Amino acid sequence: MNRWQTPLHRDELAARLIPHGQEHLLRFWEKLNDASRLKLASQIRAIDFGRIADLFGQAAVTQDWVELARRAAPPPAIRLADRQIGGLFTADEARERGVSALRAGEIGVLLTAGGQGSRLGFDHAKGTYPIGPVSGASLLQIHLEKALAATRRYGAAVPVYMMTSPITHEEQVAFLDEQDRFHVPEDDLVVFCQGTMPAVDAATGKLLLAEKDQLFLSPDGHGGTVAALANSGAMDHMHRRGIKHLFYLQVDNPLVPICDAEFIGYHLLANSELTSMAVVKQGPRDKVGNFVSLDGRVHVIEYSDFPDDWAEQRNPDGSLTFWAGSIAVHAFAVAFLDRALAHQDTLPFHVARKKVPHLDESGRRIEPTKPNALKFERFIFDLLPHAENALVVEYTEQDVFAPLKNAPGAERDTAEYVRQLMVDQHRRWLTAAGTRVADGVAVEISPLWALDGAGVAARTDRPVEIDAPTYLRDTG
Ligand code: UD1
Repeated sequence: MNRWQTPLHRDELAARLIPHGQEHLLRFWEKLNDASRLKLASQIRAIDFGRIADLFGQAAVTQDWVELARRAAPPPAIRLADRQIGGLFTADEARERGVSALRAGEIGVLLTAGGQGSRLGFDHAKGTYPIGPVSGASLLQIHLEKALAATRRYGAAVPVYMMTSPITHEEQVAFLDEQDRFHVPEDDLVVFCQGTMPAVDAATGKLLLAEKDQLFLSPDGHGGTVAALANSGAMDHMHRRGIKHLFYLQVDNPLVPICDAEFIGYHLLANSELTSMAVVKQGPRDKVGNFVSLDGRVHVIEYSDFPDDWAEQRNPDGSLTFWAGSIAVHAFAVAFLDRALAHQDTLPFHVARKKVPHLDESGRRIEPTKPNALKFERFIFDLLPHAENALVVEYTEQDVFAPLKNAPGAERDTAEYVRQLMVDQHRRWLTAAGTRVADGVAVEISPLWALDGAGVAARTDRPVEIDAPTYLRDTG
């Protein structure tokens, strides 16, 4: 008899569960084979039931967002208008500083790609979505080619730390292998998987079983990145490679100017531990997080939590007082992440009510029609108030933000919307450099052909005229 079959082993698990009222997780134990018992036991062992009980207890105590918002002021920011008139640092100074850090090989990229395309009706990892308007290139290809293009431009490697989730990990690793990792050198792409949290029944706080041998677990939010970087060895990799700052992005937005030298420059010149890119919100209820300043610290308040009357406040010139929308692009000092790791528990869990399918007492699958469970997630931007000299830098939305979030038919952030913004941007770059692009013709530029407008202007082989759908890329 192996040790998993001994009654003692069941007793040991029961002893863990009973004090927290979670012994129902062993309800099907007698029917499980050895492999299933092993699987369930290891999942149960990994859970801090005391913490889950605390989170369930706190879930009823909702954060008083109205009170918080009333104390909030706009965040410290480098606005576009400031940059035109010189401001704290000029754009040229910032660019120069950013370029020198890139040339010194001090910058890496942190890409969170744990999400699935379920909201899009795409039943795969979102990063594999073929978004390229002419090429059909995936989101992952576009991001990795930008990092590779930065490596070539600055003559120093820009390693990419890519975070997957348990549901998307294998698919994305296989996808990258099939595509020869888009030619990113082996040691410059570190793929690691984020952690999970169990879901609990919203009424009782009891953990839910997805299968007889399987807890219902879901990703612990992009705030889990910090712990996952450390647990996977990615943090050690960064230290070994001398990476001092990370350019952070989420996989859904192909317009992110990865490793933008000016943005990195402001972050360094301001001695900021965490710098965020912001765009001016078009309306008070835009579905983006709001950067605010609270008691001298920068915070993000999600759109769903920001009280209407506060969001609608305006300055005398009619512009929104709380103008700064988060596009989820940041620069982190690695030393700050090291410090954050030592105080991981300072990152709060956010509670979301969701529909979670599970097994009932008789082992029957229940597909709820309304939210029945609580899920717990950490958000990376909750690190902001802990960062010294945190800073927001304004960019123009059409240059940096086209996230793929919605299925066809939605007003924005659909595949069609994203492709149009990509084409518009590439057309602007070409036109500014002197190429004539016929009306209504789709053009797409591979980041390896040109990383940005300056890259396009520098191409001596740039076409004079484009009158049919064109994908500009290096074929050599
Ligand atoms: C998010 C931000 C919002 C910001 C907007 C910009 C949150 C809570 N809100 O909203 O402030 O204005 O993006 O586009 O993040 N991800 C993981 N693991 C997780 C959870 C998320 O890797 O456990 C990644 C996903 O791949 C996804 C991204 O994070 O690409 C964003 O998550 P999502 O839940 O789509 O956030 P939004 O509601 O779009």
